[in-house]
Amino acid sequence: MNEELLMIPGPVPVLPRIRNAMSKPMIYHRGEEFRAMYEEIVATLKWIFQTRNDLFVLSGSGTCAMEAAIGNLVRKDTPVVSIANGKFGERLVEIGNRYSDNVTPVNFEWGSPIELEEVKAAMEEKHPQVVTMVHNETSTGILNPAEAIARLTRKYNALFVLDCITSIGGYEVPVDDWGVDIAIVGSQKCLGAPPGLSAISVSERAWKMMLGDNDNSESRERPYYMDLIAYRDSFEKGQTPYTPALPLFFALREALEVIKEEGMAKRVERHRRLADTLRSAVTNLGLSLFPRLNDVSAYSNTVTAIKVPEWLDDAHLRGGMRERGVMVAGGQGKLKGKIFRIATMGNITEGEVSRTIQALESALRG
Ligand SMILES: Cc1ncc(COP(=O)(O)O)c(C=O)c1O
Repeated sequence: MNEELLMIPGPVPVLPRIRNAMSKPMIYHRGEEFRAMYEEIVATLKWIFQTRNDLFVLSGSGTCAMEAAIGNLVRKDTPVVSIANGKFGERLVEIGNRYSDNVTPVNFEWGSPIELEEVKAAMEEKHPQVVTMVHNETSTGILNPAEAIARLTRKYNALFVLDCITSIGGYEVPVDDWGVDIAIVGSQKCLGAPPGLSAISVSERAWKMMLGDNDNSESRERPYYMDLIAYRDSFEKGQTPYTPALPLFFALREALEVIKEEGMAKRVERHRRLADTLRSAVTNLGLSLFPRLNDVSAYSNTVTAIKVPEWLDDAHLRGGMRERGVMVAGGQGKLKGKIFRIATMGNITEGEVSRTIQALESALRG
């Protein structure tokens, strides 16, 4: 009961039944039991991603899937347009730069929304083959316009890579309806599982680009450990190419059971309601939300970024909350000391959000 309440944007608190799943004895990862578990996990994730595309689970955190997406698609001369309005968008630019000499970043100020016209102008000029963006920018608490960018990307005949690491599981993300070619999620966020796994969906169009005209996959400059073609080949046998992180798979399976029991519609609504409660409480306490948005629906329902008031020291405020049993996150990069962030991700309850608000109120009083 007295456990510290982790309200950071991942890892999120993990329910005891999900934690307990990790203590199961190990199994043969090339046997029937693993095959059944992997197929079940993939089927449930496809339901959550709302996709019929291929989907794989990688033994690596979200960044592993970000690199898998870009590393498999992008070669030295591939034109890429990489949209960024925060730390994780910029990470996609950095990964892009490792693989291509032809990445055009379309940068917006951290905390500002993405302007479609600017993105359109970049596409018009650069004719990208790949466009990357973060759906829910965790560093600033903004939900980016994924559907509109997906539409634009299609219009310019490019592939769309969307980092849904902190949106899938907390929002409806209709991957196929929107036309997202590669979508990724991390285990330790809205899915409510422990950290260490990520999942990636891959469209037919993405496979075509990866395989090229002559299907000479091995000659491509692609990652070895995160080779998605190897993942696809192994999946036919119900396996992963290399030894999977079994305890995390056990936990993920249980976390997905929890999601099925709640139902996605209810889960999304709970995320919306909790974020709404939190945003109202924060503003009622006289604090300001960080993002500068006209469109209220662009405030993230999975992470709330709040300005640190001039008269207060960030470390002191978060330290005060921690003394009251609640851990929240600071700002990242250039926002360090300027904002703090409270997550409402995964299996967080109303009671836990109330406890967080009380801790904040009490810490503000000093
Ligand atoms: C939007 C987003 N992308 C990528 C990442 C990186 O994920 P990981 O830390 O699991 O590698 C995070 C982590 O917070 C994130 O929020």
